[in-house]
Amino acid sequence: MFFRSKSQPETQASAPGPGGGLVRVAMTVNGKAVSADVEPRTLLVHYLREHLRLTGTHVGCDTSQCGACVIHLNGKAVKSCTTLAVSCEGASVTTIEGLAQGGKLHPMQEAFREHHGLQCGFCTPGMIMAAVDIANRKGTQLDEATIRHELEGNLCRCTGYHNIVAAVKAGAAAMGGMRQAAE
Ligand code: FES
Ligand code: FES
Repeated sequence: MFFRSKSQPETQASAPGPGGGLVRVAMTVNGKAVSADVEPRTLLVHYLREHLRLTGTHVGCDTSQCGACVIHLNGKAVKSCTTLAVSCEGASVTTIEGLAQGGKLHPMQEAFREHHGLQCGFCTPGMIMAAVDIANRKGTQLDEATIRHELEGNLCRCTGYHNIVAAVKAGAAAMGGMRQAAE
């Protein structure tokens, strides 16, 4: 059983296959086309972890509270513990494993490393995926109040958040620098 927070969008399951059996779902994950037969109730986080073995996406609460399971669905941050895999038919999914490019860490990953934005690391994949989304939505020059507000859906029980906020600020600025350099 799982619960959906009021702030989470409703997800729609495809109709179960004949006899209520498995449903084929196809999507792109980290740039690779993947497909599998899943139970209609399969959550995206379990599809990623158990079918694709992408275990960088964590399950902290299963109730849409902690943000450990944040991935990008068609470019937007989503809690994969409250998203049905079958609702992602044809979608493009990015997980923490898909952020680094050409053996180089994403600037947000690099900033978390540089600013010690983690201790046990359990919350870190979700924090980083949420942080990239924040920079995409709010711009790359972020102030502390904005970062703290936007990270409300991501919980960390180790760090006290100070270094995470510093990492998000630096990572967003680095993303902006990279974009400028590419223009
Ligand atoms: Fe998804 Fe906690 S596991 S929000
Ligand atoms: Fe341990 Fe955030 S670093 S939960």
